[in-house]
Amino acid sequence: MREHSCKIEAIEVEKVFSADSEDEVHALGPLDLQVQDGEFVCLVGPSGCGKSTFLRIVAGLLNPTTGRVDIGINPENPTPISMVFQDYGIYPWKTVEGNIRFGLEISGISKSRTKEVAGHWLERMDLTAFAGSYPDTLSGGMRQRVAIARALAVEPEILLMDEPFAALDAQLRQLLQDELLTIWQKEQRTVLFVTHSLEEAIVLGDRVIVMSSRPGKIVLDQKVPFERPRSPELRAQSDFNEFKNELWLCLKGEVEHYLERINSGEGKIGSNDEG
Ligand SMILES: Nc1ncnc2c1ncn2[C@@H]1O[C@H](COP(=O)(O)OP(=O)(O)O)[C@@H](O)[C@H]1O
Ligand SMILES: [Mg+2]
Repeated sequence: MREHSCKIEAIEVEKVFSADSEDEVHALGPLDLQVQDGEFVCLVGPSGCGKSTFLRIVAGLLNPTTGRVDIGINPENPTPISMVFQDYGIYPWKTVEGNIRFGLEISGISKSRTKEVAGHWLERMDLTAFAGSYPDTLSGGMRQRVAIARALAVEPEILLMDEPFAALDAQLRQLLQDELLTIWQKEQRTVLFVTHSLEEAIVLGDRVIVMSSRPGKIVLDQKVPFERPRSPELRAQSDFNEFKNELWLCLKGEVEHYLERINSGEGKIGSNDEG
C-alpha cells in the first residue's frame, strides 16, 4: 500500500436547485467526505438522493450552493479527472478507436503515443476486433467497455463513475465488475463510484458510503472487510452476504423513507431520476 494523501475532500457541501423560489429542491447535504489517494469509494443511496449531483460537483461540472470540494491533483495533468456515465457517453460519430483516442488527442500527447495507448486499451478491453466499428453496431456491454477504456486511457488521477453498469443485464454487469476489479487492482486510481447495488459496492469498494434519502447525507461510512486482491468468488462467501445484509438494514430504512415520500405525492417534485 502506498502512503495515502487526501485526493477528494468535500466540506459541508450542499446543493439546492431552484427553478423558482417556490420550487426549491434541497438535493444534497450537508455532506463531508474524504477520499484518499488510490482509494475506491462506493456511494449507495435511494433514487434522487443527490448521488449524481455530488459526482458532478466533484467533477467541477456543477457548483455547490454552499461548501466546497478540494481536489488534490497535479496541476500539470491535462486530464486529471475522467467520468463514466450510465448511458455510455461515447460519441456515436466516432469509431471505437476514435472514441478511445479522443481524450488522448485533446491532452496533447504525440500521435504515435496516442496510437500505442489506444491499442493497449483496445486489447485490454477485448475491443481490438471492433476498433473500426461505430458504437451503434455494438452491444450495451461493449459500448460500456469503450466508455471505460476511454476514461482510463488518459490515466486520470480520479475516476468518477455514475452507475456505469446499471443499464446492463446481470451477467454482463458481473463481467464488467470483475474486469474493473482487475484493472483497479493493477492501477490503483482514486475512484468514486455510484451504484444502486450493494453487492457491486462491496465487491469493488474499499469503503461503502450509504446516503440518506434526499437531501443526501452520509448515514454510514463503512470499510469493506475483504482483503485484496478479491476474486469473483467472493460473492458466494457467507461473510460477504452477512456484510451485505448489515448494510442493507441501513439502506433499507432510507429506501422506505424515499418510498413514503413518493407515495405521499411529494415525489412529484424533483423526482426525475436520471439514474
Ligand atoms: N438541474 C436540476 N434542477 C432541478 N432539480 C434537479 C436538477 N438535477 C437534479 N435535481 C434533483 O435533485 C435531486 C437529486 O438528483 P440526483 O443527484 O440526480 O439523484 P440521484 O443520482 O441520487 O438519483 C432529485 O430530486 C432531482 O430531481
Ligand atoms: Mg443518479
